[in-house]
Amino acid sequence: MSVLRIEGGRPLRGSVRVQGAKNGVLPILAATLLSGDVCLIHNCPRLTDVDIALDILRHLGCRAVREGECVIVDASCPTRWDIPDELMGRMRSSVFFLGPVLARMGACRLSYPGGCELGPRPIDLHLSALRALGAEIDEGHGRLECAGRLRGAEITLALPSVGATENAMMAAAAARGTTTIVNAAREPEIADLQGFLNAIGADVRGAGSSTIVVRGREDLHAGEYTVLGDRIAAATYLAAVASAGGEGEVTGVDWRHLSTVTAVLSEAGCLVYSSPSAIRIEVREPLRAVRPIRTAPYPGFPTDAQAIVMAALCKARGATVFAENIFDSRYRHVDDLVRMGADIKVEGRVAVVTGVEKLFGASVRAADLRGGAALAVAAVGAQGESVLSGLEHIDRGYADLAGALAALGADVRREEN
Ligand code: EPZ
Repeated sequence: MSVLRIEGGRPLRGSVRVQGAKNGVLPILAATLLSGDVCLIHNCPRLTDVDIALDILRHLGCRAVREGECVIVDASCPTRWDIPDELMGRMRSSVFFLGPVLARMGACRLSYPGGCELGPRPIDLHLSALRALGAEIDEGHGRLECAGRLRGAEITLALPSVGATENAMMAAAAARGTTTIVNAAREPEIADLQGFLNAIGADVRGAGSSTIVVRGREDLHAGEYTVLGDRIAAATYLAAVASAGGEGEVTGVDWRHLSTVTAVLSEAGCLVYSSPSAIRIEVREPLRAVRPIRTAPYPGFPTDAQAIVMAALCKARGATVFAENIFDSRYRHVDDLVRMGADIKVEGRVAVVTGVEKLFGASVRAADLRGGAALAVAAVGAQGESVLSGLEHIDRGYADLAGALAALGADVRREEN
């Protein structure tokens, strides 16, 4: 079992360049199926979720190889349209292969993606969007059988679901006619998917707003694209400096994509300087509690940053209220933060963090991706040594968390046991 051994309690000082965005590259890899040719995806992070997406593409008959930070996918002759349970079970968000496989092959079979560490993960919005595009979908016995030639439609999402928006965009890109997606998600990763789709010849407009218009094309082709920087990884590293004190710089990300997070860190007393090339943070005094943090769809405060910012505020003077409005079970990091000395009370979707003088190193375990990152953020600001296990969760979304924290000056070692 691999662990991170973290000696905390001293200020950080350093600089780190963030990886390509996990939540940007995953739908883009699925969308390469629509090109019917070779696609080059640059700034592709080394993540286990990316490895699973590449395994799915290979299972479907594509060639997929990595050359450094670039992944080359040859989607010229897929031979299958089913995603086996084993692959679906390894990554719940594989459901966004449904749209591109259906659009390219005219059929798709996959097992119903189960829940995950964050609680139930329904896909009703994905299915209703694809049915609006003309897909026949049978759901039964934990399996989805989909078929149909897709045609443009007006789709209104009951919730601005990121995944459902992405599935609808990808399916519509190769459908006959025009599709309008109303109440679309506005995350920056949606705009990145639009950028890739248009790079392979699609006609997608409006990403970043609540209404996206897709004019279906049949002549999609090879393309090349560079994935945007990971805003949640960037938030993680800024939070680590906020937790430990000192100063740090994060590059390779658009500062506007995490402005709700940097606004909270500034309110807590951090000095944050954002520019097109870098985000700098300086922490010279103890942090103070902030106004309630309510997670919401973009451009609201990102649910993926909730645990990370909570960890940074465990020693902030005063009490901060968190409301987790997106997922049902996203406080699984709290017990281990309390074991490190934090004072956190959870009641349903609400958590109240009352600042303590110090946190203390402990042996802790990641229960999910961002909760695990939060424990590392707390550990760099804790007195003494922490041992963090459950790295299989962290490796899903961070190419090298230990290396990134060490680049910021933290005393972190990864031990492969
Ligand atoms: C994406 O998940 C991200 N994953 C998540 O990041 C992120 O937390 C989430 O968006 C919200 O920003 C990827 O992009 C791979 P949603 P997704 O559909 O698409 C409900 C991480 O840590 N819903 O926007 O699954 C759902 O239950 C991961 O990087 C339905 O009810 O999120 C949730 O309450 C975690 N029916 C809400 O919508 C549906 O059909 C938002 O989910 C779909 C979703």
